[in-house]
Amino acid sequence: MKRVVDILTLALVLCILSATAAAAQAESAEGVLYRGPYLQMATPDSIVVVWRTEGPIKAEVRFGRSLESLETKVPESDILTRVSADIDAPGSVPRLYLETEETAKERAEEGKDHSSTTRSNTYQYEAQISGLLPATRYFYAIYDGERRIAGGEDCFLKTSPSHGSRTPTRIWIVGDSGTGGANQKAVHEAMRSLVERESRLLDMYIHVGDMAYGDGTDKEFQERFFEMYDPTLRSVAVWPAMGNHEGRTSRGRTGVGPYYDAYVTPTNAEAGGVPSGTEAYYSFDVANIHFVCLDSHDLDRKPNGAMARWLRADLEQTNSDWLIGFFHHPPYTKGSHDSDREGQLREMRTHIMPILEAGGVDVVLTGHSHIYERSMLMDGAYATPTIAEGVILDDGDGNPRGDGAYRKSAGLQPHQGTIQIVAGHGGAGVSRKGTMPVMREIIVDHGSVLLDVDGDTLTGRMLDKANEIRDLFSVVKRGRVVNTPVADPWQPTPPQEAKQAD
Ligand SMILES: [Fe+2]
Repeated sequence: MKRVVDILTLALVLCILSATAAAAQAESAEGVLYRGPYLQMATPDSIVVVWRTEGPIKAEVRFGRSLESLETKVPESDILTRVSADIDAPGSVPRLYLETEETAKERAEEGKDHSSTTRSNTYQYEAQISGLLPATRYFYAIYDGERRIAGGEDCFLKTSPSHGSRTPTRIWIVGDSGTGGANQKAVHEAMRSLVERESRLLDMYIHVGDMAYGDGTDKEFQERFFEMYDPTLRSVAVWPAMGNHEGRTSRGRTGVGPYYDAYVTPTNAEAGGVPSGTEAYYSFDVANIHFVCLDSHDLDRKPNGAMARWLRADLEQTNSDWLIGFFHHPPYTKGSHDSDREGQLREMRTHIMPILEAGGVDVVLTGHSHIYERSMLMDGAYATPTIAEGVILDDGDGNPRGDGAYRKSAGLQPHQGTIQIVAGHGGAGVSRKGTMPVMREIIVDHGSVLLDVDGDTLTGRMLDKANEIRDLFSVVKRGRVVNTPVADPWQPTPPQEAKQAD
């Protein structure tokens, strides 16, 4: 009986929505695509396609293995529709962000020039495509009835490889990009040109936060993230971590705000891992890599907090070969921020790093500090201030053509060494406060990071905005390796001397 009632309610809601749609269509130019399509939450057999239109459409996704035969359809009834608060629709229809009085007041006091409320007459569509084959490419198109509103050769998706498989995976990492300016554009273009040069596409895109300066408003997301990266987002699933700037309008505790509207991230282990029950932090698997995303901004970072307890449970169950963690606030930095002095950074170091390293983490990706810093192979640096003595397991450069790759045992073993990467150089002005002694590379310039994981080898590169590779390192996990701290580790040059050397 309940099911019948549910179906009737759904039918009623759809009727009202179409009526609202028809009415709105009569009023203004309607059904205009203005965001996306973009890809979310890739798994081995599914992916979510998201897009927005001004005004409603009769939404449908068509997909298939070749561009000429998009024969399978996701019908309107299977597509989740969310609407801006100004639209006259039944209460059961999920709403996009409406600025709170508290946020409006705060922002007005700061003299902000626009509201953080979602653009009016917005319809956001979220279509899950399921029943796909792993590591397989499909083309897709978005339709409004019989009218195609997006599609063509740049609209394709690739499912994740099966969990545990050793399929090569290429990851693009960007942080602190969201200015909408020339540096952000150049960083994006450099990646696109490298990918083309190497004829090797991205498999996934991780953003470590601050993707929509200054307040993570809907408008800033639109101009500084979605429009900026549009050609990449159409074919590469992006996995986000929230930065403090998004945190000015979005809240990790409630999962409400433009950030949470923009992204569809796992809450129930949809892509692997242990259910987190929140979009603020989550884990997922891609091939033989387990990824963990944390909210370092506005949730409890203490060892007994909900996030840390979930993290422990999640890491206990994973049996991947690789573990990569990402979040916004870096545990080690002296770029535009100082991890010896700032609370969130200290807490991520003293409370969260011990859990990640006990779980065998290989790489930690962060942003916030507007610089590129990449550490030596290190472990157990939880004290303040951070010093290199006693925590560096290999003080070489990790370059296979230089000192050689960093070595760790096969699989996830506790405390075998972590590479810390601060990639806060994606667009915002770069700067350096000092010298973090655990770092092997410190580069005050704009760029992004590419990680390639292939079987037992992970290779990291820093690609600057002028298309140059400025850092290269590898980690090889093979057999059994015993890593112990280096007695008198190599130290980076302090900035004054570095300047003189220039
Ligand atoms: Fe930040």
